[in-house]
Amino acid sequence: MIQISPSLLSADFSCLAHELDAIEKAGADMLHIDVMDGVYVPNISLGLPVVESIRRATGLFFDVHLMITRPLQYVDAFAAAGADRITFHIESQPQETKQTISRIRAAGKQAGVTLNPGTPLERLLPFVPLVDLVLIMTVEPGFGGQKFMADMMPKVAAVRDEARRVGKKDLIIQVDGGVNSETSAVCAAHGANCLVAGSAVFGQPDYAAAISGMRLAAQAA
Ligand code: DX5
Ligand code: ZN
Repeated sequence: MIQISPSLLSADFSCLAHELDAIEKAGADMLHIDVMDGVYVPNISLGLPVVESIRRATGLFFDVHLMITRPLQYVDAFAAAGADRITFHIESQPQETKQTISRIRAAGKQAGVTLNPGTPLERLLPFVPLVDLVLIMTVEPGFGGQKFMADMMPKVAAVRDEARRVGKKDLIIQVDGGVNSETSAVCAAHGANCLVAGSAVFGQPDYAAAISGMRLAAQAA
């Protein structure tokens, strides 16, 4: 089963409630929310007040991706604001990775870990048994609309292999960046089962066709 997580970053921020309603009706499995602080990544996106507001506008599962320098300090606030899953970068506070995962779980939310394209996967693998989701970035984090990095596919396959090795059958393996109806197939072929897509959904005239096109291409892989 392939899940599609449209990335809010590419939505029209002047009418968020309308955008959320449209992607829910179009078959989105969840909403990917990119939080950027202008320090961990060279861009600023949105923060707690926006998450709180849109929480009141939709029942969609909130798949929050923190690209911030101190995720541990913000776990409780994002959980209270309405996140259902919190994914953070293992490079941001390397000494506190386990503590951050525990804090997310203590808040009753799903926990995810991710890493930048240049970070060796070996640094993340020890956390596979502890998390619900591993996100492999297929672009440098910070901006939507970038080109898909096919050379990240060995990392996706290695996460799949590690999940099998440690008996974690239900691990969610997510990819994020440059995913569209073409690149989704190669992601799925390497083991990804949750596809984040910003421009390939919100940049298209027909959200339902975009979501189902991506899902079908991935399921056929
Ligand atoms: C990039 C973000 C992505 C971004 C993806 O740092 O993590 O979620 O919105 O956008 P597309 O799908 O357009 O590459
Ligand atoms: Zn993201």
